[in-house]
Amino acid sequence: MIIIRRFKPRDFAGVIEIEHEQFSEHDPYLYMSLYELNEDTFFVAEDRGSVVGFVAGMTAVGEHGVYCRVFSIAVRDAYQGLGVGTQLMKGVIAAFHQKKIRDIILEVRNHNLRAVRFYQRLGFVVTGMEYGYYRDGEDAIIMRQR
Ligand SMILES: CC(C)(COP(=O)(O)OP(=O)(O)OC[C@H]1O[C@@H](n2cnc3c(N)ncnc32)[C@H](O)[C@@H]1OP(=O)(O)O)[C@@H](O)C(=O)NCCC(=O)NCCS
Repeated sequence: MIIIRRFKPRDFAGVIEIEHEQFSEHDPYLYMSLYELNEDTFFVAEDRGSVVGFVAGMTAVGEHGVYCRVFSIAVRDAYQGLGVGTQLMKGVIAAFHQKKIRDIILEVRNHNLRAVRFYQRLGFVVTGMEYGYYRDGEDAIIMRQR
């Protein structure tokens, strides 16, 4: 049975393994500081004691006030398509709403149409592009939910 719960420091290795499997683009220690600063919006999916997915959310201050950002979400290959990502997103969105913040943004690589569809099903809409956003020069699609 898969459960969604808050990230704990002992999940660090599992999260980093999934990060390597799915992106290999963030400094592992970034996740520790995300946890330190945004403990209540960092969730993992666990199956029989091992981490099979995670979502790291963060709160930031922009031109128009406080907003939330889904920094990163990933699910192990073998667990994709089973609804785990949807459960993780619902968890982090509920945590953002508890903070009384409804403005949520995220970035998706331009080629990742599966993720764009996934976010659209969760009520996100495309609001713009950020050209050359990623380190390798790929553009980002900006999506938002209010
Ligand atoms: C994007 C991602 C997080 C989605 O997680 P997921 O667990 O696969 O998501 P879900 O299962 O909730 O939904 C995804 C798909 O499964 C389908 N699905 C959902 N519940 C399902 C179920 N119970 N049974 C079968 N299929 C199901 C959905 O229709 C959806 O289909 P599609 O994306 O093939 O069109 C995951 O695919 C992933 O880790 N991708 C690689 C990393 C990545 O791209 N992250 C996002 C970067 S911005």
